[in-house]
Amino acid sequence: KDGASANTAPLFSKLPDAIQKAGVIKVGTDATYAPMEFKKGAEIVGLDPDIAAAMSKQLGVKFVFESGTFDTLLTSMTTGRTNAVMSSMTDTKARQEGLDDKGKKTGAGVDFVDYFSASTGILVKKGNPENIKSLDDLCGKKLAVQRGTTYEQAAKDQAAKCEKDGKPKLTFESYPTDAEAQTRVKAGGAVADLNDSPVAAYIAQTAGGGNDFEAIANKTDAGLFGIAVDKKNTQLRDALKEALDAIIKDGTYKAALDKWNAG
Ligand code: ARG
Repeated sequence: KDGASANTAPLFSKLPDAIQKAGVIKVGTDATYAPMEFKKGAEIVGLDPDIAAAMSKQLGVKFVFESGTFDTLLTSMTTGRTNAVMSSMTDTKARQEGLDDKGKKTGAGVDFVDYFSASTGILVKKGNPENIKSLDDLCGKKLAVQRGTTYEQAAKDQAAKCEKDGKPKLTFESYPTDAEAQTRVKAGGAVADLNDSPVAAYIAQTAGGGNDFEAIANKTDAGLFGIAVDKKNTQLRDALKEALDAIIKDGTYKAALDKWNAG
């Protein structure tokens, strides 16, 4: 009958009517997190946009990324500004249930479509002057982390562990972006920035021509990244899941990982 019904993409019919009509899925992201999502000129690029672009071919609608501060992304979605969040966001029980860091219910909660796995990256100055090998080596030091992330929580947890173990006090500062936390480490204001392993690895290889940072991977604590969708939007969630399965099958998911060295 109209333009939308002529869409021949394999999974188009699985999308909610409103998204079929709009022809786009609006995605919230914090595009300051290379190589996962970052700005190249005006464009948002990276592994997440590439995975979305592959899914887009299955769904027959475009993913339009818009950048915002990480700790506002879920609220922006549940209030209807975006349809989904794809921002290297770790799938946690607290986010699923809409709980804050004290376990108090503050949001509606979200569903996740898991698409990637990463462990903790510990980003330190080149040469690792403080000889950090694990999170326990951070007792007595100051960390920089991104606000509202699982790594801010990890810093809190590690501070509690240092205290429990009778070790010197760990302190940390939280910044709106991980890029700012990186800058603090570079300036010597903090010993390490905790972030996701592909990000720490990429920054260590690229910042200052590879001369600014070193990445230490804490391989023991891998977590899943998920595309977050409003709990009420189960139709979109299921369509995204089918699209993800399809790109894993046809190899375009792996091609995106290979392109960003994230396999
Ligand atoms: N994986 C971590 C989390 O979910 C950090 C993600 C930060 N993402 C970003 N685009 N800055 O909290």
